[in-house]
Amino acid sequence: MPSHLQDAVTLNNGVKMPWLGLGVYQAKEGDEVEQAVQAAIRHGYRSIDTAAAYHNEEGVGRAVRQAIKDNGLSREDVFITTKVWNSEQGYESTLAAFEKSMDRLNLDYVDLYLIHWPVKGKYKETWRALERIYQEGKAKAIGVSNFQIHHLEDLLKDSEIVPAVNQVELHPELTQKDLLEYCGSKGIRLEAWSPLGQGNLLNHEALKEIADKHGKSVAQVILRWDLQNGVITIPKSVNKERIAENGNVFDFELDAQDMEVIDRLNRNRRFGSDPDNFNF
Ligand code: A2P
Repeated sequence: MPSHLQDAVTLNNGVKMPWLGLGVYQAKEGDEVEQAVQAAIRHGYRSIDTAAAYHNEEGVGRAVRQAIKDNGLSREDVFITTKVWNSEQGYESTLAAFEKSMDRLNLDYVDLYLIHWPVKGKYKETWRALERIYQEGKAKAIGVSNFQIHHLEDLLKDSEIVPAVNQVELHPELTQKDLLEYCGSKGIRLEAWSPLGQGNLLNHEALKEIADKHGKSVAQVILRWDLQNGVITIPKSVNKERIAENGNVFDFELDAQDMEVIDRLNRNRRFGSDPDNFNF
């Protein structure tokens, strides 16, 4: 169990990835994303999750370089994830998209490169490109996002490298238990996007009760539940206080009953798109 914000889980290729990171989906390019990333690193975060589709890779890269300087860190101390967008999928186009992301980030390598969505008829070719990027050392680990079990089974049939991570929507109303078990059996680490249900779960009565019992916030309870389930988590915030709050989940423990109550809130409810039915 991680006991510190900088604790990391060892992925299936030996690379260490922090258990908790900052998500920057919908953080605006420029000052907003840069302030958020710098605040997070100042508060002790060591992992930042962006994507080509977020249109803020330049700001993320700039803020990471600045934060490294300001906090006496080196590049190896920070874990950067980005993702290839759907319209760029395919072998050659993914290789080109990766180079464009690297230019925008202005970094020598990324720590984790993900296929953002399982685009039908494309994701296997995209994966071959990621395998090459990995073999060339430009990404320290590669993985997928929004893959269901059947997508993973299909991919594993034809791939050389098992994805290190599958990043999916996961929160108390979408607990993803089958996927969690399946990924565990294949050595694929599950990672939660929108762990707070895009902020929609923060007034949930059952969660409030547990939060009050521990003297923590609902957001902190949810993030702690992720970690105790062995799930990497990347809450999004652009607010310094909430960034600090979300990172402060290593000083309490949910008991077995709390975990069970939260697990039972599952309604298979998505706030984001359905990986089996999306049109972008
Ligand atoms: P903000 O960026 O203004 O903090 P998710 O990660 O599930 O997508 O949730 C992100 C949403 O939840 C954002 O709207 C974010 O707003 C808000 N949020 C993040 N952390 C907290 C928190 N600790 N308390 C309340 N709202 C939060």
